[in-house]
Amino acid sequence: MKFKILSGLVIAVVAQLAIATPVIAGEYFTMNDGKLERPTGYREWIYVGTPVTPNDMNNGKAAFPEHHNVYIDPKSWSHWKEHGEFRDGTILMKELVSVGSKAAVSGAGCFQGEFIGLEATIKSKKHFADEPGNWAYFSFTSKDHKTLAPTATAFPAESCNGCHANAAADDFVFTQYYPVLSAGKGAGKKASGGHSDTIMNSAMGGGQ
Ligand code: HEC
Repeated sequence: MKFKILSGLVIAVVAQLAIATPVIAGEYFTMNDGKLERPTGYREWIYVGTPVTPNDMNNGKAAFPEHHNVYIDPKSWSHWKEHGEFRDGTILMKELVSVGSKAAVSGAGCFQGEFIGLEATIKSKKHFADEPGNWAYFSFTSKDHKTLAPTATAFPAESCNGCHANAAADDFVFTQYYPVLSAGKGAGKKASGGHSDTIMNSAMGGGQ
C-alpha cells in the first residue's frame, strides 16, 4: 500500500518534470529554424508593470496600443533580484490590452479591455550573437489586432534595438517603467514585496 502511494507520487513528479522541460533547460522559449514559437503560460510568470499609451493621446494610433502588461520568466527574475542584471536567456513578454473604458465607479481613468497583441524580447548570445546587447525583438500581433501568429522572426536591429539601447534604464529594458524590477534590482528576498525599503521608491522618501 505504502509502495503504491510512493510509486504514484514518483510518477506524478516525473510527469510534472516532463511538462516543465523549459525550466530544466533554463529557457522559457523555443527557437525553431530561426523563428520564435509563440510562448505560452507567460501570464503565470512574474508581472512587472503596465505602461499605457492610449490611442487618443497618440493621434489615434499608438505604436503599441494601449496598455502593455509586461512579464519576465521566473528564472530570469530570480537572477535579477540576486544579481541586478539580466541573465543570458532572459525573455520578457509584452501583452497589449485595449483601453476598454474611461470611467468606473472609482473615477475617470483607463481601464483594461480586450487582449489585442503580443510582443517579446529575448537576450541570448547563442541565438542572437550579432544583435546589439544580444537582444532580439518579436511581434505576434496581426495588423487588425484580432489574431496572433504561431511564430515570429526577429525584427532587424534598426527597427527596435536602437530606441531600447538609447532610452532604456537597464541593458535595453525599460526598468524605469516597471516598479517591480526597479525596486527589486539586486534586492534579494525583499524583491518579493511587503518589505519596508522596497514598498516605496527613494523619491517618496525611502519608506520606513
Ligand atoms: C520609439 C522607441 C521604441 C521603439 C522603436 C521600440 N520600442 Fe519597445 N519599448 C519602448 C518603451 C518606451 C517601452 C516601455 C514603455 C512602454 O511599453 O510603453 C518599450 C517596451 C518594450 C517591451 C517590454 C520589455 C522592455 O524591453 O522594456 C518589448 C517586448 C518591446 N518594447 C518590444 C519592441 C519591439 C518588438 C520593437 C520593434 C518593432 C520595439 N519594442 C521598438 C520604446 C520603443
